[in-house]
Amino acid sequence: MAGQCLTGSCFLAGVIFIGGLSASLPVLNLHAVVGVIFIHELEREDFKDTFPFSMDDHEEPSFDPPITFHANLLDHPDLPRWLRYIQRTPFDTGYLYGSATSKDVGKQTIEVMAYNRYTFETVRQTMEIRISSSPEGEMPYQADFLVKNWDVEEMLPKDAQESFQEAVDSMWEQEGLTVINITSALDRGGRVPLPIENRKEGVYVKVGSKDPFTTCLTEAKSPDNLYRCRLEQQPIITCYDSFSPRFQVDWCNLTLIDLTTINATEMVPVYGDGVLEEGTEFNPPDDAPDRMFFSDFLLTFLLPFLLGFLLFLILAYIMCCRREGVHKRDLSTSDIQMVHHHTIHDNTEELRQMAGTRDAPRPLSTLPMFNVRTGERTNPMQSKHYDSAQVPLILAQQ
Ligand SMILES: *[C@@H]1O[C@H](CO)[C@@H](O)[C@H](O)[C@H]1NC(C)=O
Ligand SMILES: *[C@@H]1O[C@H](CO)[C@@H](O)[C@H](O)[C@H]1NC(C)=O
Repeated sequence: MAGQCLTGSCFLAGVIFIGGLSASLPVLNLHAVVGVIFIHELEREDFKDTFPFSMDDHEEPSFDPPITFHANLLDHPDLPRWLRYIQRTPFDTGYLYGSATSKDVGKQTIEVMAYNRYTFETVRQTMEIRISSSPEGEMPYQADFLVKNWDVEEMLPKDAQESFQEAVDSMWEQEGLTVINITSALDRGGRVPLPIENRKEGVYVKVGSKDPFTTCLTEAKSPDNLYRCRLEQQPIITCYDSFSPRFQVDWCNLTLIDLTTINATEMVPVYGDGVLEEGTEFNPPDDAPDRMFFSDFLLTFLLPFLLGFLLFLILAYIMCCRREGVHKRDLSTSDIQMVHHHTIHDNTEELRQMAGTRDAPRPLSTLPMFNVRTGERTNPMQSKHYDSAQVPLILAQQ
């Protein structure tokens, strides 16, 4: 039953049943190349008719069940690092996509479960992905485009990539372009768009070639244009933008990678001392010199303590010896209140005397004994002995 397939869309007909409910599809053999985008479509059509019960009763052949998928590395909970899965809705095709790195060379087995969301049946499929390194090695010139008006799963079908490549071709004359990586902008720090006006998440498409960049591409990164980008303006590109209107490329987010200028030594991480060689053990030194911590102790304990003590002394001096208005007398709270009272009383008395000696008659309303309602007035000067501060306020006004 299992045969060799060359493309990801190859599918072998036939269903093997395991037990009653869970069905299984034959093993699929796929091939991925390091540095080239790998895409495998999980077609709903392929799984739709393999759900055990839907095969038996064909009452509603036109009914289209919602199907979702779950993919993981065999015997592991998740997918390998380089592979991603996306399906927009249960009525859309699911995609496994990603770009393998040289660390992934070998064979990886991916397990896919398809769930019929209507009958809750499942179908299982395993696929073996053979990952080989590219015979040509890594593409030395790579450009990463951000297409703002596309979602990642729209870019994954072959024809979408071809029309994108055509657009790249007319701005970057070269022979043989490879799509290296396709990533949703959401996976690279983009924001989920508002659900209005058909806004899209955006997708990054990284293409590589052996031929150097043309001025059309490099001028997007000129100092002038970088300055415009900082002001959130679009750069000025003198070449014809062959991407628009179909692809809205954000020229500010274009990344040009020239691997030929990156020094080979830069690529190899240089470890400093203190990093153990692989397979060796750490031997603690036994002749470590003694260290004196006395000065550190003084600094951490004594200094804050001294500062605190100094503040305490200053505060104590201010509180005990520098109180205003009270001179070297021990006063209880009621004494202080008496002092306050007498001060107010004396000041009021003084003010009244000053006002009384004025020549012009005072306005009625300023007289403390003027009754607003009856117009009756008593001369405060006559009742000088009558201390209004000593009686309640209401009485004092009559
Ligand atoms: C592809 O893109 C993803 C997401 O940005 C990244 O994690 C991965 O390393 C890329 N792969 C290659 C081979 O560039
Ligand atoms: C595009 O690049 C700018 C900085 O140049 C960054 O702030 C912005 O988040 C990027 N957009 C996306 C969708 O990654």
